[in-house]
Amino acid sequence: MTKSRIIGGLFAALLVGGAGVIFALTWRPPMAAIDPPSARTFDADLVRRGRELAAVGNCSDCHTTRRGPNFAGGLPVPTPFGTIFSSNITPDPETGIGRWSEEAFRRAMRSGVDRGGRHLYPTFPYDHFTHVSDEDDRALYAYLMTREPVQAPLRDNRLSFPYNQRILIAGWKLLFLRRDAYQPDPGKSAEWNRGAYLVEGLAHCGACHTPRNGLGAERATATFAGGDVDNWQAYALNAQSPSPVPWNEDALYAYLCGGWHPDHGTARGPMAEVVSNLSSIPAGDVRAIATYMAGVFGAPTPDRQRQGEAVLAQAKSESTVASEPVSEGAAIYAAACATCHESGRAPPYGGINLAFSTAISAPDPRNLANIVLSGVRPVEGERSPIMPGFAASMDDGQIASLLKYLRSHVSKQPAWSGVSEIVEEARRTQTAFLQTAAGPRNAPADPSQRDQP
Ligand code: HEC
Ligand code: HEC
Ligand code: HEC
Repeated sequence: MTKSRIIGGLFAALLVGGAGVIFALTWRPPMAAIDPPSARTFDADLVRRGRELAAVGNCSDCHTTRRGPNFAGGLPVPTPFGTIFSSNITPDPETGIGRWSEEAFRRAMRSGVDRGGRHLYPTFPYDHFTHVSDEDDRALYAYLMTREPVQAPLRDNRLSFPYNQRILIAGWKLLFLRRDAYQPDPGKSAEWNRGAYLVEGLAHCGACHTPRNGLGAERATATFAGGDVDNWQAYALNAQSPSPVPWNEDALYAYLCGGWHPDHGTARGPMAEVVSNLSSIPAGDVRAIATYMAGVFGAPTPDRQRQGEAVLAQAKSESTVASEPVSEGAAIYAAACATCHESGRAPPYGGINLAFSTAISAPDPRNLANIVLSGVRPVEGERSPIMPGFAASMDDGQIASLLKYLRSHVSKQPAWSGVSEIVEEARRTQTAFLQTAAGPRNAPADPSQRDQP
């Protein structure tokens, strides 16, 4: 045998062997289709529990378009790699999960594989859902299988090569998916453990609040150090928190179930949906989340505590309005904002003193630009905070001057860079959202659509 033939033979063997290994690592068997079970076969208590769990997991926010039927999918979820459309998770036998067994559903939640064996994109946050218990998956399954079936075919993702190759997801999983049940920490209280189970699992708080690496996975060394979602900044929730007044357990509890706290203001954008979901689950679970998250923030250093107290004291005694408005930004603030933010009025119309607002102390002005452009929308049927949007009445230059003024007069942080570009980008995304048929992800779902079990 010649040398080149031996090498050729080896190469072929390696190729076949390699392909075999890749096949073994990536192939998942399809699971048998079942006859859609009748809704009556599910226990009513289990379904009720499933509804609460679905709220914790924000399932409806990603699986429902603005005016579309609940859980019918089709919402475009933007990622740095392209747009992925959520699936129809109603029990429709053809286009939804009507033919999925509980086992197939659990496999999707744990390992991101659909019934047919296809790998699912981790935009579906199964890197968190993998920690959900069998019992909770059973309740979620019961809840989804008792919803109204809706015929709505999948929409094609808008991903370019190579990201449109689902086989790559198998490699991603090898690198980043840690499949294990939540292990309680015996040194901590039952409430803390409950909170950890919810936050790290179903509630997937880190999916937005933890920065991601170049491959779109959460950075394990920077948990809760602040992330991005739909042109909003999901602030750091650890010792790096930019909040002027340090968060504590009680403030977290009030904010997470009521959406507002006098020293921190209101939840907006994607966080408004999270809070609206948490307001429908048992108070004990929200308390547990607050307990665990207070530990993630950690006790403030004495320095930080003093700064927070100084902000609170100063806000009570001083006005942010310059006595003689000297800049364009100062004049706009005095004319358009101070009436509500320094009136001492309570919500719905009075806003917090802006010295408390994380938006103004944050590393960049994205959220502030979003708020000034679109305001704070009232929640239908509730006495919730209302602020008008200024997209129509102010141009980008005026908003940029206002943002720079607020940063320099209200926060103790160094000036932002690139303010004008960020304002332009915020206006562009806002306009784009309003133009897509699907509508913005942060639009409150029509409350009349919130279904009952
Ligand atoms: C951040 C957005 C997001 C959230 C939150 C979310 N999903 Fe999804 N989900 C998706 C996307 C996007 C897909 C499609 C992934 C793909 O095509 O690879 C998906 C796919 C699925 C699938 C696979 C369906 C199929 O036909 O392949 C199931 C099941 C599912 N989600 C259930 C849930 C449940 C249950 C919850 C709540 C506990 C939930 N999802 C929360 C975005 C989300
Ligand atoms: C879909 C993305 C998303 C998820 C999931 C999410 N958040 Fe947020 N969160 C945000 C965004 C965006 C903001 C900033 C909102 C704003 O500017 O009002 C925010 C703000 C907050 C704040 C206010 C911080 C500050 O200093 O003002 C807290 C506290 C918070 N989130 C806690 C949580 C917890 C706890 C969870 C899980 C139960 C969670 N978030 C899940 C996106 C998210
Ligand atoms: C009609 C009254 C009203 C006017 C006018 C108004 N706001 Fe607001 N604003 C509110 C209310 C109510 C909220 C929600 C409660 C809260 O967070 O303070 C809010 C929230 C905010 C927040 C978020 C605070 C936080 O972190 O929770 C910022 C920032 C803000 N407004 C800035 C402005 C700026 C800048 C202007 C002027 C261009 C302005 N507002 C004009 C009422 C108003």
